[in-house]
Amino acid sequence: MSDQNEAYQSYSHEHRKFAPPAAFSKGAHIFGMETYQAEYDRSIADPEKYWGEVAEDLHWFKKWDQTLDASEAPFFKWFVGGKTNLAYNCLDRHVAEGRGETPALLWEGEPGDRRQLTYRELLKEVCHFANALKGLGIKKGDRVAIYLPMIPDLAVAVLACARIGAVHTVIFAGFSADSIRDRVDDCGAKLIITADGGYRRGKVLALKAIVDEGIADCSSIEAVLVIRRGGALSVECAMQAGRDHWAEDVLEGTSPDCPAEELDAEDLLFLLYTSGTTGKPKGIMHTTGGYMVYTYLTAKYIFDLQANDVYWCTADVGWITGHSYIIYGPMQNGVTQVMYEGAPDFPDYGRFWEIVERYKVTTFYTAPTAIRAFMKWGDEWLTKRDLSSLRLLGTVGEPINPEAWIWYHAVVGGERCPIVDTWWQTETGGIMLSPLPGVTPTKPGCATLPFFGIEPAVLTEEGDPADAGLLAIRKPWPGILRGIYGDAQRFKETYWCKWKGAHYFPGDGARIDEDGYFWILGRVDDVVNVSGHRIGTAELESVFVEHPSVVESAVIGVPHEIKGQGLVAFVTVKMSAKHDEALKKELVTMVDKAIGKFARPERILFSSDLPKTRSGKIMRRLLRDIAEGKALGNTTTLADPSIVEQLQKQYADGTK
Ligand code: WT7
Repeated sequence: MSDQNEAYQSYSHEHRKFAPPAAFSKGAHIFGMETYQAEYDRSIADPEKYWGEVAEDLHWFKKWDQTLDASEAPFFKWFVGGKTNLAYNCLDRHVAEGRGETPALLWEGEPGDRRQLTYRELLKEVCHFANALKGLGIKKGDRVAIYLPMIPDLAVAVLACARIGAVHTVIFAGFSADSIRDRVDDCGAKLIITADGGYRRGKVLALKAIVDEGIADCSSIEAVLVIRRGGALSVECAMQAGRDHWAEDVLEGTSPDCPAEELDAEDLLFLLYTSGTTGKPKGIMHTTGGYMVYTYLTAKYIFDLQANDVYWCTADVGWITGHSYIIYGPMQNGVTQVMYEGAPDFPDYGRFWEIVERYKVTTFYTAPTAIRAFMKWGDEWLTKRDLSSLRLLGTVGEPINPEAWIWYHAVVGGERCPIVDTWWQTETGGIMLSPLPGVTPTKPGCATLPFFGIEPAVLTEEGDPADAGLLAIRKPWPGILRGIYGDAQRFKETYWCKWKGAHYFPGDGARIDEDGYFWILGRVDDVVNVSGHRIGTAELESVFVEHPSVVESAVIGVPHEIKGQGLVAFVTVKMSAKHDEALKKELVTMVDKAIGKFARPERILFSSDLPKTRSGKIMRRLLRDIAEGKALGNTTTLADPSIVEQLQKQYADGTK
């Protein structure tokens, strides 16, 4: 395990416990540990019966014949033979049941422009957009890439794909042109939807221009659909005749009627690319029925969604959190939500709290990295606002340090809001470990207990139960990934080989405490969690070695005050090349271009060699010791021990 994990081990001295506030529990969907335990036991004893009953809450054009088919494990199938549609369950169902006038989105752009859409209005927009997609030749099963800022049109585009059975692959708008190309090529997208631009921290992002560069050589792309961001924004877009279309032109004259396609429960809903331990991101596959049922129920119970809630998840739809807990989960529950385009510190550090006050947000879901930034910016930004509407807080993306948890609880939540620390992944589709807000006594830094139907365990490499070790999930659940697009072998190797196919392996370390609570200790593979974003060290390493002066590189994760983890790159440069600031700048530019600015390393260190074993394996553990200024671990297996001394000196000199 990495040193990062050792740092989190230190939470083992954290023994504070917070009972769910009585006022909250009273009205909650689920309250009382006995209720949770009984429901949990039932869900584990007969998962098929349990999930079958949950699925009945939703609309199916045709009921499923078989709840779970595990005959081709790990290729699980849920609700086999069932026909449904996620957009229908997010929109039409509410309109049909008299909730059409409920606001769905309370949107605010970074410059302060606003838009509100009821469920009825959103449905209408989605139908128009779905017809526009059809007009461009998009059919069920076609892949559609989406590269948009956080504007309502993003939700519309995603739901329009779901409505007609096109497979969306949303690419976070902070990714570079090269990343767009890799994703589009991997899935063979026919269409990419983008905007002229968007706002971030007062600057305009010229998204269409980035798309143009990214898709220049992508043979699968037949069309580009460009949405005007609107408001004051005006960006010149070069429109390629025959390929590029303004959305407003394609939408004009489309019908507001577009029946939801009756999709098979196992029809592919979306691909979302995430980093792994190789240089190539994985296209995580989620299908319709199981993902639908799982995001519906987790959102309902973990955020205790109620008719009068105003829910705000601050994630971007470009990540799984936005898919499951902005679009699909909350919308299936018919809740009103805030959607915000921009940065938390624009125009000042108080922006989020101004939004909470303005819309009377009741439920606020964010990431530890954001919480640590708020702490740093100072309490005065919060104390001058009325945050009394808040009743529930959530966190996701990385382990939250107890200090940040306590601050969140006291300063944001006024000591009255339960906190749900939700552990899950792109691959799990929805939340797996989390307190239930009306039930579970919480501990700062702890994701506590499994959700219904989830059977986690902490195991050794050999598969024996342990107090601390590797997290495992013993049973399939409806939201589980169905594969890695185009790479069945990698799917099996990554998630199913650890214990000979018996359990799902998420790649995290964990420990269980005396109450049976699960504490996540961080990744145990070569994946680093920077501000809650997963970055594979191999991805960066493969970028650096593209530079003609670079021989080799090793990238590691180190603890970072705000980001949770930051990246440090050790780079071996050719004897003939200069090791100077100019080279560092070039390498950083390469990262911007290959991945995006968010993947920039904190530090780059040049060296004549890297610490290696006699068999040539890079000893990352030693690099971490160096980067953390620790006493070096065992160096006896090194081929050349002087290398580490050199690096250690260089690192220390650089930090003075
Ligand atoms: C990895 C998944 C799930 C949406 C955002 C990230 C880490 C996530 C927690 C948490 C400790 C967490 C894990 C996981 N992680 N939530 N509450 N406590 N660690 O999705 O990019 O798929 O990353 O994020 O290491 O494996 P992702």
